[in-house]
Amino acid sequence: MRTQFSRVSVIGLGYIGLPTAAVIAARGVRVTGVDVNADVVEVINRGGIHIVEPELDLIVHAAVSTNMLRATTRPESAGAFLIAVPTPFKEGHEPDLSYIRAAADAIAPVLEKGNLVVLESTSPVGTTEKLARWLADARPDLSFPHEVGEEADVNIAYCPERVLPGYVVKELVENDRVIGGITARCAERARDLYQIFVEGECILTDSRTAELCKLTENAFRDVNIAFANELSFICDRLGIDVWELIRLANRHPRVNILNPGPGVGGHCIAVDPWFIVSSAQKEARLIRTAREVNDAKPDYVVQQVLQAAGGKNSPSVACLGLAFKANIDDLRESPAVTVVSRIAKSIDGRILVVEPHVETLPRSLAECPTVEYVDMDTALEQADVVVLLVDHDEFKELDLACLCGKVVIDTRGIWR
Ligand SMILES: NC(=O)c1ccc[n+]([C@@H]2O[C@H](COP(=O)([O-])OP(=O)(O)OC[C@H]3O[C@@H](n4cnc5c(N)ncnc54)[C@H](O)[C@@H]3O)[C@@H](O)[C@H]2O)c1
Repeated sequence: MRTQFSRVSVIGLGYIGLPTAAVIAARGVRVTGVDVNADVVEVINRGGIHIVEPELDLIVHAAVSTNMLRATTRPESAGAFLIAVPTPFKEGHEPDLSYIRAAADAIAPVLEKGNLVVLESTSPVGTTEKLARWLADARPDLSFPHEVGEEADVNIAYCPERVLPGYVVKELVENDRVIGGITARCAERARDLYQIFVEGECILTDSRTAELCKLTENAFRDVNIAFANELSFICDRLGIDVWELIRLANRHPRVNILNPGPGVGGHCIAVDPWFIVSSAQKEARLIRTAREVNDAKPDYVVQQVLQAAGGKNSPSVACLGLAFKANIDDLRESPAVTVVSRIAKSIDGRILVVEPHVETLPRSLAECPTVEYVDMDTALEQADVVVLLVDHDEFKELDLACLCGKVVIDTRGIWR
């Protein structure tokens, strides 16, 4: 493929960076992947992957074995740098930009005139401009777009990722991309980069609008899930089946209520709305309340379990699923993990955890003496109470006869 970028460097080789690096390499552009985790670098350089994502193993293996993708712990010079490092929040739900800062410090020494730097990490409004300032402070010999506009030596843009875990390889290529430049030229150069592999439309805007666009998409989901979760509280209070209620209400041609669950997890929806709240405290009232409603759900599920287990001496509780959503291995911010750990703190019986997508318990649960990682047959044979926390296909296919005689709490409504 002919492109102005003879080499692209992707900083952060996780769920977003690694597939992006591999897809660019698959289009015939040399990619240097950079990650601070030496184990990740080693696995990738062996042609392997360290996360679960369909098809990713094949494209990473192909890219590494043809020398189009190589991983390293230290940035090297490249035509374009694409930053996909974590952006968690700190105490008080304030955004933690330290990973982006560290990535900026790491690439600054190798930046050259003519480079493009694109931030992909989900970020509060104004972060791309901050990135430009950090790079400018580190490299006074180069000019940057926030100082000199279109004449800058280095172009800087923001392009958020909106892929669905489990479908990342397909969606990276097919989804439309919103690209925000600090200047128009920054956005245009970033579009040239994304057009190497994106078949969806690349829509240009400024960096602040692109930053808020990503946060808005996830806040929209969060608010709508909070509505469904609030309905589940209301229905329990009024003795109504929330799943039937939603099914009936959704027969209205302009109503589309989402599903309640045990809470909202993951790296994105449970985190990003706080980035809006933190930058517009007074205005973001609905967005904050939605976060609070969704964050209250795990405790509500724990109370249901305690009530169900109440009459039994040292009850065994089977918890099915730990991931934050169906059919993936990602446990980050997972409400299922929160529920399991809080049940373990509240009852003295055994907690039998089944999670077909991981091989061991996460550290936070492995440290609880009553929590055991077991297979499905063991859990269902030995449990008094069964709590369904994730709608993995394996659980949907379960023969419901195995639940006979047990108290069942189905937080996803799959066994109705
Ligand atoms: N996972 C998703 O589905 C998803 C979707 C949309 C947006 N995002 C956003 O993309 C960003 C990355 O998310 P992710 O899921 O890929 O995270 P991740 O934790 O899977 O991967 C991040 C990687 O960056 C590495 N890293 C951390 N600091 C670094 C540094 N200074 N230099 C080089 N590498 C560094 C880590 O070792 C890790 O391998 C986040 O801002 C996230 O909110 C994620």
